[in-house]
Amino acid sequence: MIDFHSHILPKIDDGSKSCDMSLEMLKTSYDYGIRTMVATPHFYISQNEAEQFCKRRAGSYEALSKRIAEADTPLPDIILGAEVYYFRGISKYPKLDMLKIGGTDHILLEMPFERWNDKMLNEIAEIKEEFGITPVMAHLDRYIDFQKGTDNIERLLAMDVYVQLNADAFEPFFGRGRYLNMVKDGVVSALGSDCHNTDSRRPNLDRCFSLITKKCGEQAVDNIMDRSKKLLGL
Ligand SMILES: [Fe+2]
Repeated sequence: MIDFHSHILPKIDDGSKSCDMSLEMLKTSYDYGIRTMVATPHFYISQNEAEQFCKRRAGSYEALSKRIAEADTPLPDIILGAEVYYFRGISKYPKLDMLKIGGTDHILLEMPFERWNDKMLNEIAEIKEEFGITPVMAHLDRYIDFQKGTDNIERLLAMDVYVQLNADAFEPFFGRGRYLNMVKDGVVSALGSDCHNTDSRRPNLDRCFSLITKKCGEQAVDNIMDRSKKLLGL
């Protein structure tokens, strides 16, 4: 199983606060079946350029890797990525390739929590045209309410981007039907816990896996994982 969205790296963003916390998050994830975690610390262009971000990320990863090497328990593999927050001009940002997930041609793209305008949607398409990078849309479930009354989600999906949903999308009894239907329709390529810590935003894909299996069939989670593997080149 793959957790495609996590703030597992210590002391780099508002996620894990220490190597100890990261190890606990990794252990929890491993115990419910995760074997690969994509580490996706927040990238905000207003805070740093891609080089500085990658340098900070390398430092955090190195510190955690040392502790993982010493651990006497099996833990998931980590693939380095970023949760890249949309900014005006992103489709012309020459360093965007530094923010790709592992050795792939994908970025995990976070959009503003507001109604998107044409400029934003056009830029998503331009990222692909300009750099050959196909975005994986981070937690699509978290934007949907803001797009009510528009055809923005349909326009987005028509661009052949990939969809990542958060485990939380499947929690509310009223409202999860839409996401279960997306799973049934084969629209979902990745699931993420978006875990930040060990309590309020802990690794929580286990319940989501059970619910999807119950509502969408035995193969449904495997089908999503196969798509995730393909995206990651695994
Ligand atoms: Fe996130």
